Amino acid sequence: MGVVIGCPMRTDDDEPGASACDSAGPMAQMAAGAAMGLLLRDATPADIPALMAIEQVCFDSPVAFNRRRIRNLITNPRVYTSVAVVDGSVAGWAVGLVRRHHSHRSGRLYNLAIATAARGRGVGRRLVEHLLACFSRAGVRHIYLEVEAGNAAAIALYERCGFTQVRTLNDYFGSGRPGISMRRSVT
Ligand SMILES: CC(C)(COP(=O)(O)OP(=O)(O)OC[C@H]1O[C@@H](n2cnc3c(N)ncnc32)[C@H](O)[C@@H]1OP(=O)(O)O)[C@@H](O)C(=O)NCCC(=O)NCCS
Repeated sequence: MGVVIGCPMRTDDDEPGASACDSAGPMAQMAAGAAMGLLLRDATPADIPALMAIEQVCFDSPVAFNRRRIRNLITNPRVYTSVAVVDGSVAGWAVGLVRRHHSHRSGRLYNLAIATAARGRGVGRRLVEHLLACFSRAGVRHIYLEVEAGNAAAIALYERCGFTQVRTLNDYFGSGRPGISMRRSVT
């Protein structure tokens, strides 16, 4: 499956609505997307019902984002939300946060969720790669994430995308559910 990238990620330095890492014009993106079946674009409030359904399939109720949380993320100009559309349907999304520190910026891969039917086709990897490119454009030096220790599929995906395991976080996802902190440099 191929991919079309319309970068969803904004930084405080971007003009409102500007794309941080467009690599091709809109017409080229649309044409390629039609041929390849996968489109990455900004999340919008119209995606909320589909994203809620994906969240509920992907995560337990305390972890799954609800309508309000999804809306807050999508409408926050400091949060980067990217939706994967496969064959015309919303098939997953990824959320990235940029943190400003005294002398640099760091990124946090805050969420990644792919609909069951779309898994194993490279959608998650392309969403992560897309966020990595956008983080790079935003001047981020390091990217962090937390993943449940038992989530072998996600850990394998992140390692394939260049993340390394940093440390175990006891009870991070609840009692008896440790997390793993992962990190990647941006070059
Ligand atoms: C984890 C998840 C995001 C993977 O998405 P996906 O679109 O199926 O992943 P991809 O097809 O892009 O796979 C990319 C790489 O991830 C790894 N991977 C993906 N699924 C895997 C699985 N079930 N077992 C082992 N490795 C897996 C592989 O290394 C794969 O590379 P390869 O295809 O070259 O072997 C998806 O299963 C999901 O949404 N799970 C539920 C929500 C979740 O756990 N999110 C992560 C929260 S931290």
